[in-house]
Amino acid sequence: MERLKNALRTALADAMGESLSGMEITLERPRSAEMGDVAFPCFRLAKVLGKNPAQLAKELASAIRPDVSGLDGAELVAVGPYLNLKLRPEARAKLLLEATLGGVPYGSAPANGETVVVEYSSPNIAKLFTIGHLRSTMIGHALVQVNRYLGCRTHRLNHLGDWGTQFGTLLAAYKHWAEVQNPKLDQDFEWAEEIPEKRRTPLFRLFQLYVRFHQEEERDPAMHDEARNWFKRLEDGDGEARRLWSWFREISLAEFQRIYDRLGVAFDAMDGESFYEDKMSAVVDQLKASSILEPGEGGAQIVPLEDVGIQTPCLVLKADGTSIYATRDLAAALYRKGTYAFDRCLYVVGGEQVLHFQQVFAVLGKLDPWFQGRVTHTPFGMITLPEGKMSTRKGNVIFLEDVLDEARERVLAIIREKNPELPHAEDVAEMLGMGAVLFFNALNDRVKSITFTWDRAVALDGDTGPYVQYAHARILSVLRKAGGDWAELGRPVASPTPESAFIDYAPLAVPADLAGLNEPAAQNLLFELAGLPDAIRSAQRENMATALARQLLSIAKAFSGFYTNCPILWLENSLEVRNARLALCVATARTLRQGLFLMGIQAPEEM
Ligand code: ARG
Repeated sequence: MERLKNALRTALADAMGESLSGMEITLERPRSAEMGDVAFPCFRLAKVLGKNPAQLAKELASAIRPDVSGLDGAELVAVGPYLNLKLRPEARAKLLLEATLGGVPYGSAPANGETVVVEYSSPNIAKLFTIGHLRSTMIGHALVQVNRYLGCRTHRLNHLGDWGTQFGTLLAAYKHWAEVQNPKLDQDFEWAEEIPEKRRTPLFRLFQLYVRFHQEEERDPAMHDEARNWFKRLEDGDGEARRLWSWFREISLAEFQRIYDRLGVAFDAMDGESFYEDKMSAVVDQLKASSILEPGEGGAQIVPLEDVGIQTPCLVLKADGTSIYATRDLAAALYRKGTYAFDRCLYVVGGEQVLHFQQVFAVLGKLDPWFQGRVTHTPFGMITLPEGKMSTRKGNVIFLEDVLDEARERVLAIIREKNPELPHAEDVAEMLGMGAVLFFNALNDRVKSITFTWDRAVALDGDTGPYVQYAHARILSVLRKAGGDWAELGRPVASPTPESAFIDYAPLAVPADLAGLNEPAAQNLLFELAGLPDAIRSAQRENMATALARQLLSIAKAFSGFYTNCPILWLENSLEVRNARLALCVATARTLRQGLFLMGIQAPEEM
C-alpha cells in the first residue's frame, strides 16, 4: 500500500507540476470491485487548489500517466469526486501478497502511543455466568484485541459486581437456610434430582439461596429488612459479614476463572466494586468541594443533571449515608484516570444501563472536563434463546456453560456423522462450538437484541463461524497435500495466547510470476482480502467486531469460488501457477485465522 501511495503522490505531482511531498495521501476502498481497487478522494487537494473535486478527479484521470513506475499500468477513472485506480491483475496480486506474507501482521498498525482501557465481563459475585455476560466478555475481548492490533496500549479490566445490597440478601439467605444444615455449601444431600451433576457446585448453592430469598421475600416483607441489616453490617466492617462475603467472592472467582480459561480471555485487573469502598469518601468530598452535590429527597445526596439534558439526577449517597452503584463508578473512573491516564475508556455493559452511564459521565464531566470524550459506554442488546427472557431473581437464566456445552455436542454429532475418523474430534468440536456462539455474537448488530437459534449458529454453510473455520481448515488440507514447506507456512510459528493480538507467521517471499492469479475468481479473492484492514478499522471505530466478522465471511466465500474455479494442485499446472495459487492459499489462511483470533475464536487445522 505504501508503495502505491508513493507512486500516486509522484504521479499527482507530475500531473499538476507541483510538489506534494508534505501531503498525506489517503486511499479508500471503492464500494465494489468493478469500480476499482483503491479510490483517492479529491476533496482535500481540490480545496488546496481551489477547484471542484469532481472536476479535479476528471482532470487527474486524463492527466496522470499510468506508466509511472509503481502504478504498473493501472487504469484511472474519475467516479464523482474520487479518482479510482483499477490495478492490473498481476499488480493487484503483488500488492496483496506483499502485504499479507511479509513480516508485518496484515492490517495492523505500529504503536501509536494511545492508551485504551476496556472494561468488560464484570459479572456479579454469587450469581452465575449467563449468556448475557458472554456478550460483554467477548465484545470486550475483541475490542482489546483490535485496539492492540492497531497499535494501542490496552488495560483489560473486570469491574466485578462484588459489592452492594445483594450481598445483604445473600448473607441473610445463608444464615437462614444454609449455615446450619450445610455450612460449607458443598454437600449434596439437598440437591434436587433435576440439577445436573456438573451444576452441583458451591456457587450454584449460593445462587439457589439467592433465588429462594427473593421468592420468600415476596411473602414476608420483613425479610427485606433482614437483608438490609446484613448489608449495613458488611459496610460497617463487621467481622462475620466480611468473612462470609470474602468467602462467597472466592467461590465465585474460582468458577469465573474456569470460564475465562475456557473462553481464552484474561484480565489485567479484577478490581471489583468493593475495591472502591475506601475511595468513595474522597469522591464525595470532591463533589462537595466543587459544589455540585445537593441535598435530595429525605436526606439523600444527588447531583442534578437537568442543565445537561438529563432529567433524572444522579444519586450519590442514599438517605442512610450509604453509597450506591453510581458512587462506585465515579470512584472507579477517578482511579482509572490516575492509574492509567487513558485516552479512551470503554465500558462494555448491557443496554439496560444506558441511563446509568449517561448520569455517571455527566457527573464526571462536571467534576473534571478531562473526562469529556474519553469515556464511552458501549452498550449491547440482549441475547435470548427462543425459550424467552432471563432473570436471575426468578432463576430462569441461561447459563453460559450450558450453551457452550450444547454447541460442542451439536458439532460433535455432525463430525461423527461426516468425518468419523477425525483425530481429536472433541477438541475440534469445542473450537467449532465456540466459533458458532462467538461468531453469532459478533456478527449481529451490537445494540439490537437477538434471538439465538442453534441451527443458524452451528451450520457449516451460511453466515456462521464454522463456515469460516471450515474454509481455513480446507486451505490447510490443500497445503498439507502440496508437500514441501507449504503446510508449515500455513501454520503459526507459536501458538497464540490472549496476551497478544498477533499470530506470528514466518515471512514468505512473494513468487515472481503471479500470472496464475489472473482468473476472476482469484482476483475476487484478492479483492476481498484487501478489505480486511478497513474492516479492522471499522471494528475499532464502531466498538464492535461486526465488520470484521462480515469481511471474514466474504473472504471465506471468495475462497470457495477460487477453490472451485482455479485448480491448485492439478498436475497440468506449471510450477509457477501452482506456486502463485499456493501463496494465495497461505495468505488467505493466515488472514482468516488472524481475523478469527481477534474475535477470540480458534481455527482448527483439520475438521
Ligand atoms: N456487574 C454489573 C452487571 O453485571 C455490570 C458492571 C458494569 N460496569 C460498571 N462500571 N458499572 O450488571
